[in-house]
Amino acid sequence: MYILSGLLSVILFAAMPVSSTGLPAPAQVRSSGPASACLSCHRAQAVAQPQTPMAQALMLPGTNPTVKANPKLTVRKGDYSYTVETHGDSTTYSVTDGVRTLSLPVRWSFGVGGQTWILERDGQLYESLVSYYPNVAGLDTTIGDERITPHTVDEAMGRKLTQGETKACFGCHASNAVHDRKLTLESMEPGVTCEHCHAGATAHVLDSLQGDFSSAPPKLGKLSSEDISSFCGQCHRTWESVVRGHFHGEINVRFQPYRLANSKCFDGTDPRISCLACHDPHQNVVREDSTYDTKCLACHGSSAQLASTRTGSAPAPAGAKSCPVSKSDCVSCHMPKVTLPGGHMKFTDHQIRVVKPGDGYPN
Ligand code: HEC
Ligand code: HEC
Ligand code: HEC
Ligand code: HEC
Ligand code: HEC
Ligand code: HEC
Ligand code: HEC
Repeated sequence: MYILSGLLSVILFAAMPVSSTGLPAPAQVRSSGPASACLSCHRAQAVAQPQTPMAQALMLPGTNPTVKANPKLTVRKGDYSYTVETHGDSTTYSVTDGVRTLSLPVRWSFGVGGQTWILERDGQLYESLVSYYPNVAGLDTTIGDERITPHTVDEAMGRKLTQGETKACFGCHASNAVHDRKLTLESMEPGVTCEHCHAGATAHVLDSLQGDFSSAPPKLGKLSSEDISSFCGQCHRTWESVVRGHFHGEINVRFQPYRLANSKCFDGTDPRISCLACHDPHQNVVREDSTYDTKCLACHGSSAQLASTRTGSAPAPAGAKSCPVSKSDCVSCHMPKVTLPGGHMKFTDHQIRVVKPGDGYPN
């Protein structure tokens, strides 16, 4: 698939007219990436999506701006000192107890904000025991590894990953990395690519070039809110997987499909509360509270506002009241930011609700 889309992009590039619009010229787009095969027909998505955090959820050496901007990171944790050092395109992760030092090359960087490294030693993969966090612009213990007390340099280096975990990490953060339930790092493409969400896109490109558009991937925009939550939940976790995994307390705030389903606003058949009503998966998340007002008011507006937003879509659900407190910036009060234990990462609570002072975190 990778070689194929590489070839296709060469063909498409040759055939493509030079851009006279304000959009970046094709050469500025990750030229060998799979998205370039879609550029000539789906320009908007093919230009924007490769720049999103989802598309960069895994980075290879030389493409990681975080370590380039922080060429020497150090931290001391108990008896062990960690150094993550970058020269040119290569990054080395080292841990020492003052007597023995263990150094390994960083081959895979996970995460765009918070960043964890997967290390390889004797054919076995490990999750680095320390990670980079933007809020401290430095290293601290990897989320989830707080309970580990290392006794040797080897243990302090990282947490050994089971085969199942490894497949899961690469399955969510990369594309084409798992075949027949086996990890296939040879074919792995970093990040979440077009084909990861649009299964069958490669065959569609080949057919399209012959003028046959009948094999276009399924229209995801037609899925119900419930089905979109499950689709995004493959990686952002579904309601069922959170319940089955017994993720209680603030740690589950990062699982948006679960939190949203627990909100009184959620109706699996109403498109106005779908992930897609508020997010375009090909674009960066919008970080401006007021832009979400129209999304809320589509159901919670006064009857006048509703009449103007209703245009053919479902009517306001019975009982969706309007706010007695404010007419704007709804999410600033009703979708609060919650800090994960450890204090380094904040997520937006998708369990939309009235937040009363003194109320605990609703599970
Ligand atoms: C030569 C032009 C062409 C290329 C190249 C192409 N597509 Fe398409 N694609 C189309 C056309 C035309 C349709 C509409 C078909 C229809 O509506 O029946 C379509 C439909 C789609 C749809 C369904 C859209 C919807 O309405 O939900 C998706 C998804 C899609 N393409 C993804 C891709 C991806 C990903 C690539 C690159 C790997 C790609 N396409 C490459 C022409 C192209
Ligand atoms: C194949 C796995 C996968 C699927 C499917 C997926 N995501 Fe993601 N998404 C990720 C990963 C991994 C990240 C974290 C990227 C990072 O920050 O490193 C992410 C991040 C995001 C972000 C935060 C981006 C930002 O700007 O901070 C949003 C919003 C998002 N996803 C929405 C969606 C929506 C909506 C869907 C469903 C249409 C979806 N995702 C489906 C894996 C996935
Ligand atoms: C089921 C899919 C899934 C699996 C498995 C998974 N991730 Fe993620 N990861 C995500 C998503 C989605 C995000 C975006 C943040 C969010 O919304 O939770 C993310 C975010 C991250 C981040 C950014 C910092 C943070 O905590 O948000 C790092 C680092 C990370 N993952 C590393 C890993 C590593 C290492 C593994 C394997 C041990 C792994 N992930 C397994 C889906 C997954
Ligand atoms: C994280 C999952 C995800 C990724 C990655 C992704 N898409 Fe999509 N795409 C979607 C969803 C969901 C929809 C339906 C959006 C809607 O209707 O609002 C969609 C819709 C589309 C459409 C139809 C748009 C329309 O308005 O009819 C095209 C074309 C498309 N995607 C192309 C691409 C291309 C090209 C890439 C890679 C550069 C890509 N997508 C990457 C999830 C994704
Ligand atoms: C009613 C609007 C709304 C809906 C529906 C919605 N989101 Fe969000 N989402 C937001 C807002 C607001 C933010 C925070 C933006 C910011 O940081 O300012 C956000 C942020 C995110 C982030 C970034 C990490 C975080 O938690 O801050 C991810 C990932 C995400 N949403 C995924 C999803 C997924 C998956 C769905 C569907 C299950 C979904 N969202 C449905 C409004 C919505
Ligand atoms: C699909 C329609 C829909 C959308 C979109 C929607 N809501 Fe709701 N919301 C409802 C319904 C229905 C209720 C339940 C009314 C009831 O039972 O009291 C509700 C309840 C609420 C409540 C009261 C919850 C409680 O705990 O008593 C608040 C607050 C709220 N919504 C705010 C918002 C905000 C803010 C947004 C946008 C981020 C939003 N809603 C988006 C339909 C929606
Ligand atoms: C400054 C914080 C704040 C903002 C901004 C805000 N709200 Fe509220 N909202 C509240 C509080 C507090 C309550 C509970 C009032 C009470 O119970 O007396 C509330 C109540 C509600 C309710 C429940 C009403 C009922 O009768 O049960 C809904 C629905 C709601 N808000 C929606 C919205 C929407 C939609 C927006 C944006 C247009 C919004 N809110 C903006 C603080 C806010």
